[in-house]
Amino acid sequence: MFIGHRHTAEERNMGMMEGKNVVIFGVANKRSIAWGIAQALQREGANLALGFQNERMGEAVNKLAADLDKPPILLQCDVTVDGDIERFFDALGKEWDGIDGLVHSIAFAKREELGGNFRDTSWDGYALAQQVSAWSLIGLTKGALPMMEGRDASVVCLSYYGAEKVVTNYNVMGVAKAALESSTRYLASDVGPHGVRVNAISAGPIKTVSAMGVGDFGSLLDSMAQRAPLRRNVDQADVGNTAAFLLSPMSNGITGQVLYVDAGYSILGI
Ligand SMILES: NC(=O)c1ccc[n+]([C@@H]2O[C@H](COP(=O)([O-])OP(=O)(O)OC[C@H]3O[C@@H](n4cnc5c(N)ncnc54)[C@H](O)[C@@H]3O)[C@@H](O)[C@H]2O)c1
Repeated sequence: MFIGHRHTAEERNMGMMEGKNVVIFGVANKRSIAWGIAQALQREGANLALGFQNERMGEAVNKLAADLDKPPILLQCDVTVDGDIERFFDALGKEWDGIDGLVHSIAFAKREELGGNFRDTSWDGYALAQQVSAWSLIGLTKGALPMMEGRDASVVCLSYYGAEKVVTNYNVMGVAKAALESSTRYLASDVGPHGVRVNAISAGPIKTVSAMGVGDFGSLLDSMAQRAPLRRNVDQADVGNTAAFLLSPMSNGITGQVLYVDAGYSILGI
């Protein structure tokens, strides 16, 4: 005899993010990793808010958003502009009673810092890369915390192998990603008692606008497809699905980790 609750067909089809509110920073166009994450989350039933950097990005994001079944909330936030983060969460607080997930998929370095001699890294270029690509994880997590309290919320950011090993031309961004991964651990420890988890995904190279700024990016793609255990590159959907897992209750015991989504490339020695 069956004892317990029989699930209706509707309940069985529910996604693992059904009814969860997730805010995503970093959609610029349809190639953005953040857009792959948005699509995975929408498939899993999440309500979305998208933070865009400036008016130009806003127009592009507005057009993309028309492809989503549930219209997302769209709000502007440039992490280098004083007060933008606070204004963003004040505005979001008028729409939502809380936040269950936050995706940080933003980074920036000047093109001239992503090639040539690492010793030529300028202070301005170093500081800007750190502010946009690493500090912003701290700023955004702090901004979202009052709305994440007590909801088993989860924060996910995007890193790359160049944080850990020297990758030709990645230069100042490798140092920023090292800071991002370390910040992931410090934040996880800091906000864990508030019930908030923080993890990073270290994604293999994917052809996006930002990635094309890295000198000779094509050779990173080729090398990975030839040598990675899975003999292929990863794509936005691979990362989107892992992000959905890390944002969902399926990963409730995981925090402070860097999870590689790289077809196994990072396990290789010589
Ligand atoms: N593409 C890859 O190969 C790869 C691999 C591993 C990790 N990543 C990381 O994934 C993340 C997303 O990058 P992507 O490859 O999708 O490129 P992308 O160019 O599509 O996204 C970068 C995003 O950063 C945003 N951004 C830049 N400066 C900002 C600012 N001042 N304020 C707010 N937003 C700002 C841009 O608006 C854009 O949406 C980045 O952290 C990147 O380093 C990318």
